[in-house]
Amino acid sequence: MAILLSYAGGNASFWREGLQREIPGADVRVFPDETGDRRDIEYAIVWMHPLGDLATYPNLKAILSLGAGVEHVLRDPEVPAGVPIVRLVDAALTRDMTQHALHWILHYQRRYHLYRQQQAARRWGRVPFPEPQEFRVGILGMGELGTALARLLYGLGFAVVGWSRSPRTVEGARCLAGMEALPELLAQSDMLVSLLPRTPATEDLLDAGRLAVLPPGAFLLNIGRGSVLVDDDLIAALDSGHLAAACLDVFREEPLPAEHPFWTHPKVTVTPHAAGPTNARSAVRAVAANIRRIMAGEEPHPVASPERGY
Ligand SMILES: NC(=O)c1ccc[n+]([C@@H]2O[C@H](COP(=O)([O-])OP(=O)(O)OC[C@H]3O[C@@H](n4cnc5c(N)ncnc54)[C@H](OP(=O)(O)O)[C@@H]3O)[C@@H](O)[C@H]2O)c1
Repeated sequence: MAILLSYAGGNASFWREGLQREIPGADVRVFPDETGDRRDIEYAIVWMHPLGDLATYPNLKAILSLGAGVEHVLRDPEVPAGVPIVRLVDAALTRDMTQHALHWILHYQRRYHLYRQQQAARRWGRVPFPEPQEFRVGILGMGELGTALARLLYGLGFAVVGWSRSPRTVEGARCLAGMEALPELLAQSDMLVSLLPRTPATEDLLDAGRLAVLPPGAFLLNIGRGSVLVDDDLIAALDSGHLAAACLDVFREEPLPAEHPFWTHPKVTVTPHAAGPTNARSAVRAVAANIRRIMAGEEPHPVASPERGY
């Protein structure tokens, strides 16, 4: 049994040592320099692996993503059918994503963005702010990350509404599901946080019509995927004054092209897909735990569905 590691830009020796510590005797081969028989490879740990290549390993038992999103695997039309695609769920990633979101939620709820403007004008003066229970946070995507964020916000007294494809129950959050319920969530979101995956159904979801349903002066945080947002429609909503500000971590094209208007827009903060970078130390344990599960005849968790697209 051998493990293929395909993580351009990652620290291959850290991963090899970590996997060998977690799975004693593991034969870890690093793409694209691996040698030996492709039939030995039973597990492929990947991020943005070249299209068509996974189909050349005939004995794959699982494809393990090095990130929470799996669209980088599903975009491959030749990805071997029937081989489970395992998403990365990792406590450190969840912590970092929810704390990034909390930072920006507090930033806007407490109006710190206005103090930046006041300072530029050398103006001294406190700005009133809503109490947490008056600041309604709408979360698009109530999966691993959205649910964790809802719980964190509930503990801090925020009013939370969540949205998913199928009905969910999360303590402290009003949970809505399905496309018909989306306007209700949007209308109640003083701040909208998108934690949606990239799928055909979420593409261009936040367009002019839906942004218009947000309350006047609302804030947007996108930490899911950039494909969810129609960039020009967001800029128009900010320029008209309907939306107050946006903080964007994910984009249709990454790195964000130098000429993109988001870079210089006064109401937009850009972060470089930095909300929840894969934490090698804990991710290696999470990935190895799933490999051990399969070796013991158990199911890995969580497995993405090619039909759903996430
Ligand atoms: N910025 C970063 O650094 C960073 C880091 C990690 C992850 N991410 C992004 O965060 C995303 C979410 O991660 P996760 O672990 O929370 O994923 P997850 O557990 O799969 O949750 C996805 C959520 O989105 C909902 N959803 C999907 N399609 C929908 C649709 N068409 N309509 C309504 N709801 C829909 C799902 O609904 P159901 O509950 O009904 O299935 C689920 O609640 C990832 O896919 C990735 O794109 C970004």
